[in-house]
Formats: sequence, C-alpha cells, structure tokens
Amino acid sequence: EWTAANVVDDLVSAVRAQVGDARVICGLSGGVDSSVAAALVQRAVGDQLTCVFVDHGLLRSNEAEQVEKDFVAATGVDLVVVDARERFLTALAGVSDPEEKRKIIGREFIRVFEQAARDVVGAHEGAGDHPVEFLVQGTLYPDVVESGGGSGTANIKSHHNVGGLPDDLRFKLVEPLRLLFKDEVRQVGLELGVPEAIVWRQPFPGPGLGIRIVGEVTGERLDVLRSADAIAREELTAAGLDRDIWQCPVVLLADIRSVGVQGDGRTYGHPVVLRPVSSEDAMTADWTRVPYDVLARISTRITNEVREVNRVVLDVTSKPPGTIEWE
Ligand code: XMP
Repeated sequence: EWTAANVVDDLVSAVRAQVGDARVICGLSGGVDSSVAAALVQRAVGDQLTCVFVDHGLLRSNEAEQVEKDFVAATGVDLVVVDARERFLTALAGVSDPEEKRKIIGREFIRVFEQAARDVVGAHEGAGDHPVEFLVQGTLYPDVVESGGGSGTANIKSHHNVGGLPDDLRFKLVEPLRLLFKDEVRQVGLELGVPEAIVWRQPFPGPGLGIRIVGEVTGERLDVLRSADAIAREELTAAGLDRDIWQCPVVLLADIRSVGVQGDGRTYGHPVVLRPVSSEDAMTADWTRVPYDVLARISTRITNEVREVNRVVLDVTSKPPGTIEWE
C-alpha cells in the first residue's frame, strides 16, 4: 500500500544502507526537491549530513529565512549558510543580456558551492572524522526519464546540477527521490515535517529574480521587485488561487519608465508585469484568467506600497509563443 509513511520508512532504510558511516553533503536551494531530499537523508543518517545554502540574494521575500530558520527548526539539519549576495551583485553589474545573466549566475553558484563543499570536507578531515563521500541530489523520476536514466537534467535544472564539480571533489550521489513524482515528493515532505511553505512552493527558476528584472540587476531593483512580488503572492494566496496557478512571475521592466500621478505629484516610474500561468508541466502554458477584482487589489497595493512602481500590466500570452519567464 502506498502511504507516505511507508515510503519514508523504505527510503530511510535505503539511504542508511547506501551511506553507512560516511558523511554526506547537500546543497539546499529553497525548492521542494532539495529540501525533501535533505530532510529524508537527515532522518536516515542524522548529523552525518551537512547542508549548504548559498544565499545569492536573488530569492523572493522570506525565502532565505524559510530555509535558514523554518527548515532547520523543522528538520534539525546542520546548515552552513554562505552569504554570497555581494558577490553575485558584483558579478552581475552592468549585465543586461538574459543568457549572459544566466551564465554568470550558474557559474558563480558552482564556484561558491564548490568552495563551501571544500570547507566542509576539510573541516571533517581535520577532525579525523569519516570522509565526506556523498552528495545528495533532489532528482525526481521525470528527471531520470528525461535524461535517459542519468541524473539531473541538462538545462532547466542547471542550477541544482552540481555535476560540474572538479575531480578532487568527486562525490557519489544519493538520490533518494529518484523513483517519485512531484506530488509524491510533497506527501513525503509533509510526512517528514518539512514546512508547508516549502512543500507547496510553486516552481521558481534557479537564477531567481535575476531573470525577472529586464535590464541590469542591482540591489535596489531587487528590493523593488521583491516588494511587488510579495504583494502579488499575498493577494493570490488570500484569494485561494495558489492551486489554480502554476506560477506567477512578477517582472520588473527596469529600463522602461512611464509617466504617472501618485499622491500629489507627477511620477516617472517603472512598470511591473504580472505573468500568471496555468500549466501541467511548464512545457506549454496558458495565461490564467485571474478574477478582475484580485488583479485590481494587486495593482492598487503595488502602486500604493512600492514607490518606484507606477504601473501594473498583465501578460496575456500563452506558451508558446511566449515562455513563462521573460528571460
Ligand atoms: P520557461 O521560461 O522556459 O520556463 O517557459 C519553464 C519553467 O522552467 C522554470 N525555469 C527554470 N528553472 N532553472 C530552473 O530551475 C532555470 O534556469 C529556469 N529557467 C526557467 C520556469 O520558472 C518555468 O517553471
């Protein structure tokens, strides 16, 4: 019989058998898959596991805190947080081209993770501990199928895919979720006590808000987008639409300005785009017919509460021809 509790028992035994006394490292992204995989390995081998969270500063409001506080409190994992926010901003300075941004974010992510992994390995060697032999990956069944039985996927998952690690950092992989589908992973996550905000998180790209600012990424622009995005999410959740919407990117058109009137004066601010989509698998998507009154609340609140934004527009393009993200 398929129950989350049975599945957890089986997977915990399997991880114990695979790992033995060795030490394990896991990169957390804040997403569902890596979180549930880490929680499972933690349940199996406890403090043999060290998790690494690279804070690249491109997450949405409250998401870093969810990992650093709520996830740790719920699971008891040993977490190393690397604050790389400045490093990413510096690397992204002056860059507007979408592919260039993606490359930079991916490259910096691997470098920072690599260094953190070296530090973890070194700390345990120094302590005369068991060696760090394993790396946890949140690979799911559809990823396994898509890549012809290998692990990880080529492109969409590049952010999680740390297969590009150098030779002296070669780990064996622990992929406890590799036979599960997304909905099963969520059930397993709930069974393990992973916070609901993480378990039910909608898809979010590895390069994060970096590819939702059309134009150069700066600290100020990230703050503006984070505020607008938080309002949209709050109102969509309050309207009970989370399960109807696959995801709703909020995009800041940072190089575009338009004239407005806010309070008692003329403004010359930026537009944000709401991109609510309905989808089964992100390969195709339709724009979600969000009720007008919900759109009105989001628009009013964003233009009242986020000073730099004076216009809210709705993206009514399906995929294809539009992609879900703007970059
Ligand atoms: P597009 O924009 O191609 O997005 O229609 C399809 C789905 O993939 C997500 N996405 C990414 N996920 N790393 C990720 O982990 C990425 O670089 C990336 N780019 C897009 C996007 O949010 C949507 O769910």
